[in-house]
Amino acid sequence: MSSDIIIGPAGAYGTFPAQIELEGAPYWLVRGEDGRYALLMAICPHAGGEVRLVEGMFFCPLHFWTFDTADGSCLNMQDERLMRRDVEERDGMLYAVSAPY
Ligand code: FES
Repeated sequence: MSSDIIIGPAGAYGTFPAQIELEGAPYWLVRGEDGRYALLMAICPHAGGEVRLVEGMFFCPLHFWTFDTADGSCLNMQDERLMRRDVEERDGMLYAVSAPY
């Protein structure tokens, strides 16, 4: 669909999670064990801290919430998670195919 947003060539990312910017917002591009990609917004749902990669987890330095790097679920606050966007690979290019949810 025309609303899809080009992220870039899939081969451009050597390691995951990979830090990217999309529409002016920071994201982590992640890749699951099944090979599927997703975007996790690097903005903490608590109070907007920028989520960083620390020792294999996403970590918010403001109040120390941590998040799973596979699906963005919060590891210390039940029912909280990073916003995500669905990603599709087509002909070697990655596209964001959903709004953040
Ligand atoms: S803003 Fe991230 S834990 Fe509070």
